[in-house]
Amino acid sequence: MKRKRRLAGLVSGVLRVALRRRPRTAGVILAAGSGTRMGGEIPKQFLPVLGVPVLIRSVRAFDRCPSIDEIVIVTREGDIQNVEDLCKEYGVSAKLKRVIAGGETRQKSAFLGVEATSKNCRFVAIHDAARCLVTPKIVVSVVKEAYRHRAATAAYPIADTVKRVDRRGRIKETIDRGELLAAATPQAFDRDYYVAVAAYAEKKETSVTDDNALFEAVGQTVYTVNCGSDNFKVTTPDDLVRAEATLRARGEKENGL
Ligand code: CTP
Ligand code: MG
Repeated sequence: MKRKRRLAGLVSGVLRVALRRRPRTAGVILAAGSGTRMGGEIPKQFLPVLGVPVLIRSVRAFDRCPSIDEIVIVTREGDIQNVEDLCKEYGVSAKLKRVIAGGETRQKSAFLGVEATSKNCRFVAIHDAARCLVTPKIVVSVVKEAYRHRAATAAYPIADTVKRVDRRGRIKETIDRGELLAAATPQAFDRDYYVAVAAYAEKKETSVTDDNALFEAVGQTVYTVNCGSDNFKVTTPDDLVRAEATLRARGEKENGL
């Protein structure tokens, strides 16, 4: 009787732990762009921000995030070795599953990245390497929202007053700011669902500028998580200055210490 009760206790304990376990989740970091708007020889993902390359800062946030089990980095073919070396140098290779070559467009790079994640991952969190101020906390909150709703994205309120204009640039109306958010990354989705909608978009030759749009196109609601405007995308040289200033304000010294 006593043994039976002990066994029942053990089984329910194991069940509780099993049920509390979250779904396996992969981070997909997109770094296969050429950084045209930044200019210069070196693509922006390899430029240092307070001594640490933009790409490594993004990978580090995912590496330190308890919701992420594995990481796939998508880069340009010729940079694969360099990325692998950088990950070793900065000690972010434990969760690294693969570094793969991206495609002509961001959309294609994201699709290739998701396909390269392990099939037993139930969720993927796609991130622009260029959003190098992302934090593990932001990743956790977006991923958790995706577990609940299948599709979620980081986003933040827009500070400017936005106008709709005609083709000659004449103001037609002021858009209610309360209804606007700037879409950011990570964007997290049910993996199988993502593969299905991305393949459908490819077949239909629909081009999108972010992965949320793939879901919007099939009528799936994407939930937003306010990540704050510090999670901006490093696009032009001014953004490097802003990124360094933001990190200094967070108390960071040179070399990410
Ligand atoms: N990206 C990618 N594959 C592409 C294009 C972009 O993986 N074919 C990645 C970029 O490396 C970046 C993110 O997607 O981390 C967001 O893209 P964007 O900011 O537009 O970067 P670039 O395309 O590199 O910059 P630009 O548009 O100025 O050339
Ligand atoms: Mg681009």
